[in-house]
Amino acid sequence: MDVKPPLVDGFGRAAKKVRISVTDRCNFRCNFCMPITPVWLPHRELLTFEEITRLVRILASMGVDKVRLTGGEPLVRKDIEKLVSQIASVKGVKSLAMTTNGYLLSDMAEKLKQAGLQSVTISLHSLKPERFEQIVGRGDVFSKVLDGLRKALEVGLTPVKINCVVTRGCNDDEILDFIELSRQSGVVVRFIEYMPFDGQKLWDTKLVVSGREIIERIEKHYRLVHLPREEGSTARVYRFADGSAGEVNVITSITEPFCGDCDRIRIKADGKIVPCLFSTDEYDVKELIRGGASDEELELFIRAVFARKSPGVEQLLRRHQLAPHIRPMHTIGG
Ligand code: 5AD
Ligand code: SF4
Repeated sequence: MDVKPPLVDGFGRAAKKVRISVTDRCNFRCNFCMPITPVWLPHRELLTFEEITRLVRILASMGVDKVRLTGGEPLVRKDIEKLVSQIASVKGVKSLAMTTNGYLLSDMAEKLKQAGLQSVTISLHSLKPERFEQIVGRGDVFSKVLDGLRKALEVGLTPVKINCVVTRGCNDDEILDFIELSRQSGVVVRFIEYMPFDGQKLWDTKLVVSGREIIERIEKHYRLVHLPREEGSTARVYRFADGSAGEVNVITSITEPFCGDCDRIRIKADGKIVPCLFSTDEYDVKELIRGGASDEELELFIRAVFARKSPGVEQLLRRHQLAPHIRPMHTIGG
């Protein structure tokens, strides 16, 4: 592979990970993510598998070696395992993961694993079936998501992680239940602070439960060991001091963001490059691709837009530039 200089932004941060939203569609309607009546992208507006794989190849040549597929819900994109296998065979891609709501996972886990997917993160915001179904806006789905979780463990899509968006007054009474699940099953539980990516404009700082509060609540029951943060990671990572299985992560994007060594770049399903999740800046790479641009031209474009990446949440807040409801999460996938 042609090894090129790294992809670096104006603050010297190099991109190592790409998150690719493969569809804005979803079979759930989580109230902190989706508008009440979402308007889906027409199919022709989605990047094709070939277009996505080409971008991954170009990014990998600049040192972006970790790929995560997101949505909407990535498993509703037809033949997604074909995309998985195309990306898995790109030289330089070391890690290939997916964030899914888990509903279709029990049927697909095996073929995804065979296609080269390494691990999954499943969104699970409540362990109470009724409450879960109320949050995701769909009935009769909880047990299928749990089946998906079990199947992921069984076929070795590991580490299996759970994303739990914590909202005050909704599910913050379940933190300990998730801890027990982690200790018993070994899955990594990631508590995510509620972020302003809400399709229904419900976000309010009063609803955010801080990572610090989450950890304090857990520590009333279990002593935790805080592990050193992995470079570029947005997660604070904890293990149990008693040596139990399991792991706790808190994603403190609102109260204690780690933008200083951010190593991510994002591509939306419609082919817009989003250098920073919290900035509204987006750059259309699809138009260039469909206009016949060469790999070199695409690389130059990506370098130019990434150079303009926002410094991050603290600066946007300080400059009063943090938009109140940035974009619905289903259009970007976190
Ligand atoms: N704040 C924080 N996390 C969110 N997610 C969806 N909407 C929000 C929000 N407003 C989660 C999804 C998924 C991950 C990509 O982001 O549940 O797990
Ligand atoms: Fe779908 Fe995930 Fe958004 Fe829920 S949070 S509506 S599962 S994309």
